[in-house]
Amino acid sequence: MKIGIIGTGAIGGTIAKKMVAAGHQVSVSNSGEFDELEKKASELGASAATVGDLVKDVDVVILSVPTIAIPRLPKNLFDQVPKDTIVVDTSNYYPFRDADIDEIKKGKVESVWVAEQIGRPVVKAFNNLLAETLVAKGRPEGAPDRIAMAISGDEVKDKAIISRLVNEAGFDVVDAGDLENSWRHQPGTPAYCTELNAGELERALQDGIRAVAPQIRDSVIKLFSERTSQPSHEEIVEYNRSLFPKNPKTS
Ligand SMILES: NC(=O)c1ccc[n+]([C@@H]2O[C@H](COP(=O)([O-])OP(=O)(O)OC[C@H]3O[C@@H](n4cnc5c(N)ncnc54)[C@H](OP(=O)(O)O)[C@@H]3O)[C@@H](O)[C@H]2O)c1
Repeated sequence: MKIGIIGTGAIGGTIAKKMVAAGHQVSVSNSGEFDELEKKASELGASAATVGDLVKDVDVVILSVPTIAIPRLPKNLFDQVPKDTIVVDTSNYYPFRDADIDEIKKGKVESVWVAEQIGRPVVKAFNNLLAETLVAKGRPEGAPDRIAMAISGDEVKDKAIISRLVNEAGFDVVDAGDLENSWRHQPGTPAYCTELNAGELERALQDGIRAVAPQIRDSVIKLFSERTSQPSHEEIVEYNRSLFPKNPKTS
């Protein structure tokens, strides 16, 4: 497949490498100078493109930028892009990083807001695992310790295609439902960055409480920002799990 990825950071860059390794033709873009982008693209095994060129002639566009960067993308970016090009959103809204986005703060589902900003549907995927999980914890299909990733979206056939990409990246997939239900794998929920297998993730997606998720999200950031030392990846995952007593991996 031809895959264009906007954002070459921790998530976009990792997805790019994995998709190249799986045999896809990948182009990438970011907000930097084009010669620096070319160097980055070559490290990833991808080609470099401007954001405007990247969205043309691809099967899938993956948006992997901070939420606040979405409205800063070129106006009408997708106007000429065929309707069957699938757009994936990996974003998570963090007020400390993304500033105030009133509609999301008032409860709009993050990826619904993203879809409105860009004027077309999105599939939410690659958002509920930490970058380090994505880098290091992918496993072959059928492996007993395989971690699962959540996916949401309104088009079943689009989710099937993106699920295949997630599978190639080394993770099982659990469908959380339509895009309106993607709050179930936003920050502050039991499905978020807790490294669960497929059965556990299915339950965690049901156990989230929408009204309290933003408070939980902000309390986690506050706790970790007050620490004098950087928490390890395993500590973050353990802490996320411990917030939800029903989580089967909570010790
Ligand atoms: N890190 C995680 O563990 C994690 C896990 C799941 C989901 N996510 C979510 O996935 C998204 C990406 O996260 P990340 O950790 O990969 O972020 P990151 O490392 O900060 O990378 C962000 C990328 O977005 C690019 N960018 C920013 N504004 C842009 C614009 N206007 N046009 C084009 N490119 C732009 C940046 O370009 P430059 O390289 O030029 O700066 C950078 O390549 C975020 O919404 C995040 O919340 C993150």
